[in-house]
Amino acid sequence: MTTPAVVTPVKVSGEFPVATPEMPKPGRCIVVILGVGGDLARRKLLPALFHLFLDGGLPDEFAILGVERGAGMSGESFRNGVAESLKAADISPAQLQKGWSEFGRRLHFVAGDLAGGAVYADLKACLDELGKTIADLQGYLFHLALPPSLYSGVIRQLANAGLLSKNRDPDERPWVRVVIEKPFGHDGASAQALQRGARRVMAEHQLYRIDHYLGKETVQNLLVLRFGNSMFETVWNRHYVEHVQITAAETIGVEHRGKYYEEAGIVRDMFQNHLLQLLTLSAMEPPTAFSADAVRDEKVKVLRSIRPIETGRAVRGQYGPGRVDGATVPGYRAEEHVAADSRTPTYAAMQFAVDNWRWHGVPFFVRAGKRLAASGTEIAIRFRRPPLMLFPPEEGERLDPNLLVVRIQPREGISLAFNVKVPGMAMQARSVEMDFAYAEGFGTEEHDAYETLLLDAMLGDQTLFMRSDEVEAAWGIVDPLLAYWEAQPPERFPNYPAGSSGPAAADELIATCGGTWRELGSSS
Ligand code: BG6
Repeated sequence: MTTPAVVTPVKVSGEFPVATPEMPKPGRCIVVILGVGGDLARRKLLPALFHLFLDGGLPDEFAILGVERGAGMSGESFRNGVAESLKAADISPAQLQKGWSEFGRRLHFVAGDLAGGAVYADLKACLDELGKTIADLQGYLFHLALPPSLYSGVIRQLANAGLLSKNRDPDERPWVRVVIEKPFGHDGASAQALQRGARRVMAEHQLYRIDHYLGKETVQNLLVLRFGNSMFETVWNRHYVEHVQITAAETIGVEHRGKYYEEAGIVRDMFQNHLLQLLTLSAMEPPTAFSADAVRDEKVKVLRSIRPIETGRAVRGQYGPGRVDGATVPGYRAEEHVAADSRTPTYAAMQFAVDNWRWHGVPFFVRAGKRLAASGTEIAIRFRRPPLMLFPPEEGERLDPNLLVVRIQPREGISLAFNVKVPGMAMQARSVEMDFAYAEGFGTEEHDAYETLLLDAMLGDQTLFMRSDEVEAAWGIVDPLLAYWEAQPPERFPNYPAGSSGPAAADELIATCGGTWRELGSSS
């Protein structure tokens, strides 16, 4: 595909910066972060809660209770640690000045090992005390910022300690909700076991499964783009769409997560959740309403229409040493906690077939990888060429078919490429692009996905969280491929240098359908 040289930015009309709609305020509650010393809590959850606080998205009275081993740690040293995490998360001195004293006084800490039993009694005692200080307390949110292997045990212990009462219906007060992070299990069977354990002590409406992609503004915008405009709907099907490309490329390697990654690999880490979510949102039918179950019903239908992945239509890769952003970086096998002969894939590309009336025959090419040439997540819808090309392209150019690109990140936005007449006497055509970028169009900063998701969990809105049948259907798609790959060692690993666009076999995969991947970083 040639990149259209003429790019026209689309401006949003009206006054700037736009007034953000008022934040819905949840009822008074206590947020308990289990594993508050970990990476997720420090880098994502605490900064998100602080931003929500500054933006008025937290209740007028609330408490945040952190639990972590932290022997010898006091409430005071915990608060100092949180302040450091906020600074490290780019929260400015002015923002800290504005909110810290009010936010900081609501932070509490309980020390203990969550894999043991004693801490749960301390946690209960602390929650009982805190509960007395907040009049009209509406609920408790337990966020398990822990390794997934601990989920089942921690949920059981919370229930044994009397902290997880089963809410018969969502309106019961106080509500008790549990948030867990992907991966939900290691495969379909372990996901079902986790699910059975959780359902023994709580109802489905109490369990919030985070796939943080669903909290991204641009992912939610996909629903507005598709179902808030009538012009796309008529062409959003096999009659007009030639193929769909979904890419999640990263320049980073596995960083310090080698241990986790060796167990997970790219398919469990990205495909089973984030990428299948992007695919379902791109392919789903309009829901009957924008409600949690109506949206998730439609997504599950897409997952159930996906044909088993043909093993010959899936490519795996692992990065070797190379250069990324001008620096020399080691190969995957030389990363910390990674086996020297590891077979774990850090890249995959595959073709999905959605077997329903709308999409039959339209390939969905999906790829993701670490240590690639450029970072970028996008969904590109490539439309069919006109049946007859009446107009010659400019010399040296090619007329591309229409292309709609939804950029999830970076430069969040949408672009649409189409062909126009080149000014002049000759009847020549060329591709141009209309480009809408959120930051430039609205002049506002986006919220981090965790702000949206934590707020929704406090409000009791599960629309952006995964339902158990979605999780299971997604495992049902990737499990057979994982089993096949585990049984068939890769022929040659590593098979792409860090800083490249991935293994050559991925280009061959898409070429068999007459396509090419979009250049990495082409829309940033
Ligand atoms: C996480 C994966 O879920 O998503 C990481 O575990 C990956 O490996 C990350 O880097 C990507 O998220 P984002 O928001 O940076 O696209």
